[in-house]
Amino acid sequence: MSNIFKAVNTIGYKPSKDRYANMKYRRTGKSGLLLPEISIGLWHNFGFTDDFKNARDILKTAFNIGITHFDLANNYGPPYGAAESNFGTIFKRDFKPFRDELIISTKAGWDMWPGPYGDLGSRKYLIASLDQSLKRMGLDYVDIFYHHRPDPNTPLEETMGALDQIVRQGKALYVGISQYSADDTLKAAKILKKLGTPCLIHQPRYNMMDRWVEDGLLDSIEKEGIGAIAFSPLSQGILTNKYLKGFPKNSRAVKDGRYLKVDQISKEMLLKVKKLHDIASSRGQSLAQMAIAWLLKDERITSVLVGASSAEQLLDSAKALDNLKFSEETLQKIEKILQ
Ligand SMILES: NC(=O)c1ccc[n+]([C@@H]2O[C@H](COP(=O)([O-])OP(=O)(O)OC[C@H]3O[C@@H](n4cnc5c(N)ncnc54)[C@H](OP(=O)(O)O)[C@@H]3O)[C@@H](O)[C@H]2O)c1
Repeated sequence: MSNIFKAVNTIGYKPSKDRYANMKYRRTGKSGLLLPEISIGLWHNFGFTDDFKNARDILKTAFNIGITHFDLANNYGPPYGAAESNFGTIFKRDFKPFRDELIISTKAGWDMWPGPYGDLGSRKYLIASLDQSLKRMGLDYVDIFYHHRPDPNTPLEETMGALDQIVRQGKALYVGISQYSADDTLKAAKILKKLGTPCLIHQPRYNMMDRWVEDGLLDSIEKEGIGAIAFSPLSQGILTNKYLKGFPKNSRAVKDGRYLKVDQISKEMLLKVKKLHDIASSRGQSLAQMAIAWLLKDERITSVLVGASSAEQLLDSAKALDNLKFSEETLQKIEKILQ
């Protein structure tokens, strides 16, 4: 390691003084918590096989532009746990003095460790998993703890009881759920309300290509005063110009292939993407920017949770906030393409 790099590494990070100049913050449902219109997720690009400096740059760039919310989960990696461990290292070096300016979330619900206690929704799993996450990240508490997916075989009372217990233990300030259907969300919200720990937020997949939330979920959360944070808003990179001229070597579909495979990106899909790209250009935006703006036009969406493989990408995505307005005519054109 060169002396200069060592110096940069030890001096620590001084965030931009203007970090709150341009970002807007939305209220999470009917809670007291404000979230930035754009949040950053650590699902990809923060594992032990990824470039640590790049990961660190992404988070520093995020905070410099007012992105105060970092989203993790127990099993983000690879390997599982690696994103939390790397985050812990970066937090200690760069963000510790700014803990009270940050909203850090993690989750449990998918497979994490072998045997019957490292998956799904038991009290045993959730409590043990959060304890492990806190250790990996070097934190005393997370701001939001999520149940990551519904568990059809554990009573909802037990899973929600575990979330309530976690808040009472001081290990999380708020709780949320992810990927729950509209019906299950209403049931979970009712149990949590009774326990005295309201459901803060729902984290569903939502983007132009996957609109299941429009079929009841958004109405349910609005009714219950729950916020919404939309994950994979760019459909893992499909809703950008990335795949319009082939499959770049360093793209998620080619480089990673775990959750996005090349054969999932069909010719028909890319025809739609091209048409959307043309509309975005006519608005003076990149397609990534328009895809984010399209989600934020709905005030029930508290925040859009993007991923990024570089700081430059994140800066590009954040420019979406410069133009969130859509004419009725443009919305209809988009609707026609998406049908
Ligand atoms: N609750 C859940 O079950 C769940 C599930 C999945 C994700 N999440 C959360 O949501 C977060 C975001 O998910 P995601 O990474 O799938 O989000 P995404 O924003 O849909 O996709 C991110 C990818 O799109 C590409 N990209 C981003 N900005 C770009 C730009 N401006 N121009 C061109 N390409 C751009 C990059 O792909 P390349 O790598 O190809 O460059 C990047 O890795 C995750 O980190 C996680 O926190 C939650």
